[in-house]
Amino acid sequence: MLILKGDDDLAIGLACELLKKGEVVAFPTETVYGLGADALNPYAVAKIFEIKKRPHFDPIIVHVADLDWVKRIVRDFPEEVRRITNRFWPGPLTVILEKNEKVPDIVTAGLPTVGIRMPSHPVARKLIDSFGRPIAAPSANPFGYISPTRASHVARLLKEKISLVIDGGEPSFGIESTVISVRDGKIYIYRFGALTLEELSEFGEIIVVSGESKSRLSPGQLPYHYAPNRPLKIVESIKEIENPSSSFLAFMEPKDKVNAKYVRVLTKTGDLREAASNFFSFLIELDREDVEIIYAEKVPEKGLGRAIMERLKKAERKTFRT
Ligand code: TXA
Ligand code: MG
Repeated sequence: MLILKGDDDLAIGLACELLKKGEVVAFPTETVYGLGADALNPYAVAKIFEIKKRPHFDPIIVHVADLDWVKRIVRDFPEEVRRITNRFWPGPLTVILEKNEKVPDIVTAGLPTVGIRMPSHPVARKLIDSFGRPIAAPSANPFGYISPTRASHVARLLKEKISLVIDGGEPSFGIESTVISVRDGKIYIYRFGALTLEELSEFGEIIVVSGESKSRLSPGQLPYHYAPNRPLKIVESIKEIENPSSSFLAFMEPKDKVNAKYVRVLTKTGDLREAASNFFSFLIELDREDVEIIYAEKVPEKGLGRAIMERLKKAERKTFRT
């Protein structure tokens, strides 16, 4: 496997060649690293499912570099959606729109809709633009595991399964895009992410989709996900840490000594943006062979804290679902 820096034109050139041949490449975005394939080539997209061991009912987001391509793959790009994408694209927002026949069914898991995102990361933009077609990409991790925020994470997680990782450094958000749909002035949130509910609420009434309608409309959103290999438990205070053979993911610097082998602090000042950008990489660091459990401190459920808590709860549920 090759790891090439994204500012190297050779890297983009090689990536485009691979994509044209129907191969997959890992690339940086401002949220997490993606595992990309030609979105309009069903055989190429099938490789993503194979490499990630991703269930076929879980639809993949299509990444574009310009609005022209959006119009070419959807039935309709309503004005009420355009108002929102005008404000937040390029950026960490995925919108669900009705697809047309150009988008292969494997991309959308058979749904009549497609999730589309225009990333802002310069390397992602350059790659999509040079390739000249949309790129389908989920996060570049094995299905269910923690999402990668470093080229080195991708290299470790997918090893010989892929031939190229483009290194774009650390993403500015470090947490996935927010997934929404818009209807009759209402904004439906399917996944909390790097764009906050507070930011979106200026553009319409917010409805957080959950339960049965969520599993029907956004089938990849399983109740358990983003999980480390060790069990994970959410705690409110360090007093709940019972097992010293553990790691602890603290929100802010603990005031007392912590009864854990390894401790990482998401933010010194309580800044949720800093916490979100450290979240996945610290969780990967703390998921060590020599600990039995990872404790994670609750973070405030506002702004980006909602996205962090949604991921922690899914990781905890994966641990304790039996
Ligand atoms: O930030 C991100 O969104 C990253 C980067 C690489 O762009 N990608 C990402 O993809 O997180 P992934 O596959 O890990 O999560 C995509 C989720 C799906 O599980 C599904 O819930 C939702 O987006 N989704 C995609 N297409 C959809 C559709 N047509 N209808 C409903 N939900 C959809
Ligand atoms: Mg993912």
